[in-house]
Amino acid sequence: MSPQKGKNVSPIFTEEDKTLDLALRPQSFREYIGQGAVKKNIRVITEAAKKRKDPCIEHLLFYGESGLGKTTLSYLVAKEMGTGIRTVAGPSIKKSGDLAAILTNLREGDILFVDEIHRMNKSCEEIIYPAMEEFKLNLIIGKGPMARVMNLKLPRFTLIGATTRLALVSSPLRGRFGGIFRLDIYSIKEIESIIKRSASLLELEIEKEAIGTIASRSRFNPRVANRLLKRVRDFAEVGDNRRITKKEVEKALFFLDIDHMGLESGDRKVLETLLKKFNGGPVGLESLAIASLEEEETVIEIYEPYLIQIGFIQRTSRGRVATEKAKKYLREKNSKK
Ligand code: ADE
Repeated sequence: MSPQKGKNVSPIFTEEDKTLDLALRPQSFREYIGQGAVKKNIRVITEAAKKRKDPCIEHLLFYGESGLGKTTLSYLVAKEMGTGIRTVAGPSIKKSGDLAAILTNLREGDILFVDEIHRMNKSCEEIIYPAMEEFKLNLIIGKGPMARVMNLKLPRFTLIGATTRLALVSSPLRGRFGGIFRLDIYSIKEIESIIKRSASLLELEIEKEAIGTIASRSRFNPRVANRLLKRVRDFAEVGDNRRITKKEVEKALFFLDIDHMGLESGDRKVLETLLKKFNGGPVGLESLAIASLEEEETVIEIYEPYLIQIGFIQRTSRGRVATEKAKKYLREKNSKK
């Protein structure tokens, strides 16, 4: 990602997350739908810090699948605390020098948001521990007998880490977060409210039934819901339809090859591979990914969470297994072709 144009931001920081349309991003906790338990906990943490007149809160770690609102929540924490927020992508922190540059560029009270923190290079962890605990930067200068450690004082900051893979965050790093929160999938009702809110911000006229249809194919995920809403809007605009109806939605989703369960061609490819090439499993992740022509990470982070949620795949100690429900779904799908 490129640095923000025209703004006083160092190139080491990424632009804020653009995957969720900025115009649709909730601007306050009141506007943020769902994740009630997490919001309540954050409110307590931020209110207590404000009462103590402390600009910083304890370091927080958010985990959960992509698109559930980890970035949005972090921006809301910054807003609530009245502090700045700097965003960095974990994979871009490759050497301890990268992390040192990031930390020394922070301002007092800033939030440092590290997305995909599990992909930060492990060699940086030794730098991050004293930074998180004592706001100190221990730099080793030189090599061999001439090497010296230099201690620098850092501004007080709050680290907010986000990850889709909690198990890949080492336990010493996990242990340094004061709060670890899991973001869950949303209920259909919550997704419907999110679509309604987004439609209103986009000034779209949309039928209640049309909202229900988009919600039912959104994988219980706000990012997917907003993406589908925008695609449906495109179809409606091209067709010169001012009011979005259920029929309109169904037509658009048919063209997008998103079926009644919200499954796309990639999901079906993984399912079909599991059923046809491995006789329904059990099969290891590596073999499943290779046979599906996908990366293991993509299978784990994109396809599997939803296929598991809807009871199509089970993860067992011997590998991935397709369920009867998945077999029935594909039989019906193929009989309609
Ligand atoms: N848009 C995306 N996620 C949202 C949420 N949780 N609440 C309101 N609008 C959203």
